[in-house]
Amino acid sequence: MLPPGPRIDARLRSPFAAPPEVPVHLEMSDLTGLRGAGTLVTLRPLAPSDEGAFVSLVASSTDYWAPWTPARSARIPLRERFRRECMRAELGAAAGSHLRLGGFLADGTLVGLFALNEIVRGALQSAHASWQIGVDWAGRGLGTDGGRALLDLAFAPEPEGAALHRVQANIMPANAASLRVAEKLGFRQEGLARAYIRIAGVWSDHSMWALTAEEWSTRR
Ligand SMILES: CC(C)(COP(=O)(O)OP(=O)(O)OC[C@H]1O[C@@H](n2cnc3c(N)ncnc32)[C@H](O)[C@@H]1OP(=O)(O)O)[C@@H](O)C(=O)NCCC(=O)NCCS
Repeated sequence: MLPPGPRIDARLRSPFAAPPEVPVHLEMSDLTGLRGAGTLVTLRPLAPSDEGAFVSLVASSTDYWAPWTPARSARIPLRERFRRECMRAELGAAAGSHLRLGGFLADGTLVGLFALNEIVRGALQSAHASWQIGVDWAGRGLGTDGGRALLDLAFAPEPEGAALHRVQANIMPANAASLRVAEKLGFRQEGLARAYIRIAGVWSDHSMWALTAEEWSTRR
């Protein structure tokens, strides 16, 4: 029988266990409770009571959004689309893969939709941002303000934020308003993705923009 050796931490012996000092979490986080606040726009998940406001926002803004955002089937009634959006948001937040929020004014008016999509953990800790403001509310600084609140949420440590390291935004080169929002928020242009997203039935080139947590912390 061998004499007793020094005690070895079981985690260091296992080929599958992460060393205890690794700082990034590999697990997806439940993002269900996250809320954001800009100066003008508050971000929160859509609730059942928002159905009417969602339907009228989407009905009035579909043509305005159509040249720049992926098409939704016109055959799906807007009330059904609201139900699906809520379910998608709830499942995505619980899984930690998506954070999909409504943008509201102080008086409770729904003015736009904001999201962190395709959240990836592990060594990336990244997401894709999206923003859209209702046609009746465009050009009043709400897209920029809501975008700022979204980035605060993206980069804040848990449990107040998603603790991401990088947020990307992909924008069609002709979308002057969205390019300007990205610029004002401090995104850097990184390149052009050819035939990247199908918009209005066409695989469209997108200008790729990105922002890291370090860059964001110097801007706040
Ligand atoms: C992009 C969008 C969210 C911007 O929201 P918004 O509330 O209208 O934007 P803001 O009022 O915050 O304006 C941001 C900047 O864009 C500029 N801008 C707004 N509309 C513009 C336009 N049509 N052309 C050029 N610049 C424009 C503003 O002047 C402002 O810049 P400034 O402060 O230097 O003057 C909104 O236009 C929108 O929903 N567009 C359709 C959907 C969309 O394109 N989503 C993004 C897909 S990548």
